[in-house]
Amino acid sequence: MVKISPSVLSADFGCLKESLKPVKEAEWLHIDVMDGHFAPNITIGPFVVKALRNITNQFLDVHLMIENPEKYIEAFADAGSDLITVHAEACKNLEKIIDMIRKKGKRVGISINPKTPVSKIKKLLHKIDVVLVMSVEPGFSGQKFMPKSLDKVKELKKIKKEKGFDYEIEIDGGISRDNCAEVAKAGADVLVSGSAIFKSGDPAGEIREFRKRCQI
Ligand code: DX5
Ligand code: ZN
Repeated sequence: MVKISPSVLSADFGCLKESLKPVKEAEWLHIDVMDGHFAPNITIGPFVVKALRNITNQFLDVHLMIENPEKYIEAFADAGSDLITVHAEACKNLEKIIDMIRKKGKRVGISINPKTPVSKIKKLLHKIDVVLVMSVEPGFSGQKFMPKSLDKVKELKKIKKEKGFDYEIEIDGGISRDNCAEVAKAGADVLVSGSAIFKSGDPAGEIREFRKRCQI
């Protein structure tokens, strides 16, 4: 069964705790960290991750869209992240960063932008827990899903099967009730969704609708 990871970026930051209650049935909670350099937006820091850790037991899926992530791994790990995902494009020494996250006892993810091929991270796939395929350019919620990203999901599923790897395939950007079944069928194990869930008027019902449509 697919996991759902609602993206906090689309929640109401004026009353975050209340805003997250309707999504408590989702397995994960997706936290988009942007630094204004790697991505053209500034969002959440370790301080907010810590606050979230204090109000929920959900699995905290922390997506670092920042340059020099090695400087902040410790802070995000200590704040209570469960999974820390870094961008392949942002890391000079990806292997070293994977080891840093692992040493902090956290699950490790690598994300690739729409223009980055799977081949860029192929050599490291045996070392990680999650591959996060971006289906929009990093920066903002509410963008349009890029269907080309499904080719990468399929490719990752094929490699996983052939090599016996056990990473989960996560997809992020423009996922809604209209495309979730297709995305799950392509091989995605974890669906991130921000605006489609939080702006639906009934986030809990929207998550149920995703699940219904993803039963494949
Ligand atoms: C984009 C972020 C996404 C975003 C998803 O840079 O990484 O996680 O919040 O939002 P939607 O589902 O609205 O595209
Ligand atoms: Zn994200």
